[in-house]
Amino acid sequence: MPPNLHLLTATTTLLLLILLHSPAAAPTKPLPHFREAPAFRNGQECSKPNPTTTTADTIHIAMTLDATYLRGSIAAVFSVLQHSTCPQNLSFHFFLSTLHHHHRLRSTILTTFPYLSFHLYHFDHNLVKNKISSSIRRALDQPLNYARIYLADLLPHSVHRIIYFDSDLIVVDDVAKLWGINLNGKILGAPEYCHANFSSYFTSGFWSNPIFSEFFQNRRPCYFNTGVMVIDLDKWREGKFTEKLEVWMRIQKRYRIYELGSLPPFLLVFAGNVEPVEHRWNQHGLGGDNLEGLCRDLHPGPVSLLHWSGKGKPWLRIDSKKPCPLDSLWAPYDLFRHEPLFSDS
Ligand SMILES: *[C@@H]1O[C@H](CO)[C@@H](O)[C@H](O)[C@H]1NC(C)=O
Ligand SMILES: *[C@@H]1O[C@H](CO)[C@@H](O)[C@H](O)[C@H]1NC(C)=O
Repeated sequence: MPPNLHLLTATTTLLLLILLHSPAAAPTKPLPHFREAPAFRNGQECSKPNPTTTTADTIHIAMTLDATYLRGSIAAVFSVLQHSTCPQNLSFHFFLSTLHHHHRLRSTILTTFPYLSFHLYHFDHNLVKNKISSSIRRALDQPLNYARIYLADLLPHSVHRIIYFDSDLIVVDDVAKLWGINLNGKILGAPEYCHANFSSYFTSGFWSNPIFSEFFQNRRPCYFNTGVMVIDLDKWREGKFTEKLEVWMRIQKRYRIYELGSLPPFLLVFAGNVEPVEHRWNQHGLGGDNLEGLCRDLHPGPVSLLHWSGKGKPWLRIDSKKPCPLDSLWAPYDLFRHEPLFSDS
């Protein structure tokens, strides 16, 4: 190659690199800052093999991480650590939506939880880009909301069981109890709500079309919330459940059979075959409904997990000085560092 051609190639490569890394490609809003969480250490009982579970020693927890819900995710992780007898036996798996935030989110986790064992995964929007239909609330249409469908594909095969947690919840009990539940051969465990009106999760067009509604024949489907799930990943992979969920997302694209985001495909595939988990593990709906986000009360009974599903989020309501009474239960886990209005310098 003549030397000037070399130069030309080098210049082109450089130009390409500059273009690819151009910060103008995505706006950079600074991420919030958080206080450093204390180090959580295992209790003495943790050195003995856990007699209550038949599963391996590490507890695997999957969550998504993005700029909008970051404050909620940090509070959730903090709450899990604080109530765990063996916090050093926890391993977190965080799914991120954009390469752009990757490094900043990693450093946020590293500085907030210096002792945490965690892995980051890049969730490629293209996996779901053409499969998402608009729902009644825009937040539900975010591609990252669909990451829970792909856990079995994205997690290493050495992870056999996973707990999936939404980012708008706190755990106030030892997560090992949830981890240790017997799935009784089922693929998915979650609290079920059999009194909820199941029909309302699908359109009348869905129910009047026998081809669709027959999928629920021979099942007694109950609503469950996909914000808290225990999943047998081996069985999921074996049965190719990701593909089964994707089929319904494609059908939705053409026939519009429901109004919500990632929940209905889960109901279509799993409702009626879910291993029921105690209701204490998902006191959901604390964010109010999908439209107004009104204040809600706890459901009767014991509480191991509080979930602000719905439109209202505790950190937003607290910041706007209009908190709901139960938001005061979330506040102690908030590690967000409010920047002083006036700096001393
Ligand atoms: C915690 O992890 C240690 C080391 O991997 C293991 O020996 C122990 O059994 C685990 N404890 C529990 C309660 O799972
Ligand atoms: C359940 O929801 C459907 C559709 O929204 C409605 O037509 C039906 O009346 C509801 N049933 C009950 C018992 O509320």
